[in-house]
Amino acid sequence: MEYSAFKKWWLKKGSPGQKKTYQMYRKRCNGKPELKFLDIIDYTKRAKKETENNGFYDDSTFLKFLEKGETKENLCNYFNVDLQTFLDRIKVLKKSFNIVDIGDIIKLEKNIVIKNNKYSLDLNGESKVIFGVTSDNHFCNKLQQLTFLKSFYRLCKERGAKRVFNAGDVTEGHFKRRPDHIYEIMGGKIGVDDQADYVAEVYPYEEGIITDVIGGNHDETHIQNGGADVLKRVANQRNDFNYLGNGSATIQITKNCSVRLIHPLDGATYALSYSAQKYVDSIQGGEKPDILLIGHHHKAMYLFYRNIHILECGTTCGQTLWMERKRIAAHTGAWIVEVTFDKEGKILRFLPEFIPLYKMVKEDY
Ligand SMILES: [Fe+2]
Repeated sequence: MEYSAFKKWWLKKGSPGQKKTYQMYRKRCNGKPELKFLDIIDYTKRAKKETENNGFYDDSTFLKFLEKGETKENLCNYFNVDLQTFLDRIKVLKKSFNIVDIGDIIKLEKNIVIKNNKYSLDLNGESKVIFGVTSDNHFCNKLQQLTFLKSFYRLCKERGAKRVFNAGDVTEGHFKRRPDHIYEIMGGKIGVDDQADYVAEVYPYEEGIITDVIGGNHDETHIQNGGADVLKRVANQRNDFNYLGNGSATIQITKNCSVRLIHPLDGATYALSYSAQKYVDSIQGGEKPDILLIGHHHKAMYLFYRNIHILECGTTCGQTLWMERKRIAAHTGAWIVEVTFDKEGKILRFLPEFIPLYKMVKEDY
């Protein structure tokens, strides 16, 4: 009998002590036990330890139960706890893990489910707004450019920006299916907690500036690896870090102006504007944003197309060897944007300014 099967059986029998467990087990096997007495002691001790926490399992064991997805009722019965106790535990875990509700089912989701994240930010009545735009910082990649990002935030503050929009790949993540990827990551910064704690500690802070951020495909590797949401963990530690979900988010900033951040999954193209144009062409009528901020490509470009002000947001990470082999250039830098609105909150004037980073700093940790 495998340990997991034993534990299930043991819990159903009401978690008895070692001797009683052995007696019950012998009875179950008609006196021909597959496990010896010492095995039963071992198994019972282990199972007891795992269920000590108010009748629950420790986090990692508990989360394993959620991986397949199960109804709340079944889970409560299984753990022998009331619904409120169960929901309280889920609420805590949701702050760090990608736990989703599918009707009555609770699931630790390791796949990336794209949602239409919508928010609003009331800038109605403002005639001029200045904000920063950055993307693909790739913190914990050996080529991260922390010094530049810090000076960029200082500049944003000097210019009077109150928001910086970040279009994803804040962290380098960890692609387990790319064996060479681990060599691009800073030493000791591979796991989700290592990366989250590091970003929470070093991500630029300027008083009065809030960073609105989405997750990119590198951030999402933590979800794929273990259901852990790295940017949720950063946001738990930083009040100035406003996490808007993975892949895309739309923020209504005035009643007639919306900003959409996207982190698409397409690859590099020969023409800089190709991806942006294809995306804009594909948007359904009535769903067009007024400002579109695109991450992922590590390119910098401004384009006005179909009445949308589009920025490819650039990167603050040097060109990795992987990119060099794929012949992908890194446009390093970030944007400061000044937008003038009319009385109705419509854009009158859009002034993007690219702040380039020419010289990479080595080991800029
Ligand atoms: Fe990236």
